[in-house]
Amino acid sequence: MASINEVIDLSPKGDIAVVSVNSPPVNALSAKVREGLYKAFVSANADTSVRAIVVICEGRTFIAGADISEFGKPSAGPTIRDIQDLLEAAPKPVIAAIHGTALGGGLEVALAAHYRVATKSAKAGLPEVNIGLVPGAGGTQRLPRIVGVETALDLVTSGRHVPAQEAQRMGLFDHLVDGDLREGAIAFASSVVAEGKPLLRIRDNNEKLDAAKIFPEIFAEFRKANAKRFRGFDAPEANIQAIEAAVNESFEVAMEIERGLFRKLVAGTQSGAQRHVFFAERQASKIPEVPEDTPTRPIRKVGIVGAGTMGGGIAMNFLNAGLPVIIVEADQGALDRGTATIQRNYESSLSKGKLSPSDVAARMGLLTPSLQFDELADCDLVIEAVFERMDIKKEVFEKLDGIAKPGAILASNTSYLDLDEIAAATSRPQDVIGLHFFSPANVMTLLEVVRGSATAKDAIASAMTLGKKIGKVPVLVGNCHGFVGNRLLAQRQREVQKLLLEGAKLWDIDRVIYDFGMPMGPFAMNDLAGIDLGLDPNNKTPNSVRELLVHLGRRGQKTGAGYYDYDGNRNRSNSELVEQVVRDFAAQRGIAQREISDEEILERCLYPMVNEGAKILEEGIALRASDIDVVWVKGYGWPVYRGGPMHWAELVGLKRILDRLRELQKIHGDDFKPAPLLERLVAEGRGFKTL
Ligand code: NAI
Repeated sequence: MASINEVIDLSPKGDIAVVSVNSPPVNALSAKVREGLYKAFVSANADTSVRAIVVICEGRTFIAGADISEFGKPSAGPTIRDIQDLLEAAPKPVIAAIHGTALGGGLEVALAAHYRVATKSAKAGLPEVNIGLVPGAGGTQRLPRIVGVETALDLVTSGRHVPAQEAQRMGLFDHLVDGDLREGAIAFASSVVAEGKPLLRIRDNNEKLDAAKIFPEIFAEFRKANAKRFRGFDAPEANIQAIEAAVNESFEVAMEIERGLFRKLVAGTQSGAQRHVFFAERQASKIPEVPEDTPTRPIRKVGIVGAGTMGGGIAMNFLNAGLPVIIVEADQGALDRGTATIQRNYESSLSKGKLSPSDVAARMGLLTPSLQFDELADCDLVIEAVFERMDIKKEVFEKLDGIAKPGAILASNTSYLDLDEIAAATSRPQDVIGLHFFSPANVMTLLEVVRGSATAKDAIASAMTLGKKIGKVPVLVGNCHGFVGNRLLAQRQREVQKLLLEGAKLWDIDRVIYDFGMPMGPFAMNDLAGIDLGLDPNNKTPNSVRELLVHLGRRGQKTGAGYYDYDGNRNRSNSELVEQVVRDFAAQRGIAQREISDEEILERCLYPMVNEGAKILEEGIALRASDIDVVWVKGYGWPVYRGGPMHWAELVGLKRILDRLRELQKIHGDDFKPAPLLERLVAEGRGFKTL
């Protein structure tokens, strides 16, 4: 190995030259890889004894993309485009042999080859859009030439990874190899030579683009159909424009357009934010005190207590991962309803073609509904998801303590309650941990892993590993009221209610938050979740707008009215009655109403969240600012193109936020009292990322 440099080998196999890349972990196109590839192709192109060239990768995958860590830095040596030019212009057939994932720059290199063969488990895609970019090396030009404009639009704006069979149907892969890829690729190369097959240069093939020329509406229609999905993002539109250029301009001109779009995006705040989140997500699983080689406890069977909204959704995660689940309820009716909901969710996936009937049967077959706590005795992990009440949680944990096998992890899905108090109800607080799933728990990817003061390191390591196994993004947080996510949310919710009483219209507040990029405004969200959630149903003395509305039977969408009125199709309209309730309540409290600007709404909702984030960091509740960002992006729909509250705060400027908090503190009191950490960072001219 390593005839060219440390990462690239060039060896003959008869009259076929095999160029192989060996740059773990994912063979990214680093400067070293590019330099080696370039040299290898120059050499193989010039060698007259070589009749075809195979490019293949060692390790777990074909080139999985550009080296993101090099983005925005000056690059040295040959570019991806230089390598593509060499491949495409080679006087002999070049065959890319793909296994694992050919993504981004990796697929772009493969698209410059004359043929592509792949294993049946391989996948390919151009996921640049997910980090706020367009492919930078002709991906938007070659892809539509081979798969057609419509499919290319779908692939570049979704970034999805296309499985081998589908890629073959699209024409992206020419041949799928059974068995050894290297041998299969060499055999394919030999047959190309023997049959004198042409050197297919995708760039020269305009047939599929011509088809789109006679139907130019395709772009407008695609934009319209996806407007909601693309809302706020710059990159999808840039990807569409690049493909439009492929159709309307020459290859050379369109390549320049793609390059221009790439340069603009890579220097912009959106891509910066999206790359920040990409790295933040990976960083979140690194816990200095719990190194990656910490032993984990095997989890082969999971118990869940409570089959309500959360318990059922949580169960589905484990059933999907092939783990047997026992779900225990106090109440037969609730158990039946919970089981039926799980079944219904699976049937809905079945009807959408996402699952097969045997998948559904297998998953339901792993589920055991029960009213007997004793059946939890052989579970390796039990997750409690009963009502949010300390007395009930304690009772459940006391019971679990008497039943669960030694070493079993006992988890609570509590949203706010003190984990240490829950753990103290057992004789084994080291085994107690918080696993805070988000609703709907089978869909939302965030998992706050809450560490109590006694939680054992191997329990933490097990929870983090398990979280990833079931497809979640686990983030370790400390024990406090509301942990990280809900603690930030509480800041916004408090201000939203204050703003309402001070005269802001609730639909204006919702609009400002929605336009910022959140999926929903706070009031629309309350109506969806149910305004009464968490309120005492027996309270006879309402003392907030929310309680007054519940008192009036306006409990949200489920009752056809909440902060808004709803018609039969759940379309909302503004309610004069609610306006009156707000005005009367403000008057009764002696709060003068005034006009409130959009800017004030945004600042008052978001700056206290940043401030709370600073307190959370100071207290060690989150390990790093980027963990807070991951929590809000994954769990609450903070727009990824704004990078999370802490990343966003630095874009706004910490000094500006601090100054405004001080002003607001003078007017509205200590809800705006700046966190000492924020003051210190501003005084030192530093940001959260330097901590
Ligand atoms: P839920 O009311 O839908 O379900 C709770 C279930 O627990 C009910 O079916 C009830 O019959 C059962 N239950 C009550 N006491 C029990 C006992 N002693 N033994 C066995 N089963 C018992 O409540 P939900 O919304 O699922 O919440 C559960 C927990 O999850 C709470 O701690 C909540 O704070 C937390 N959570 C809720 C979220 C949400 O959006 N609903 C989000 C994240 C966490």
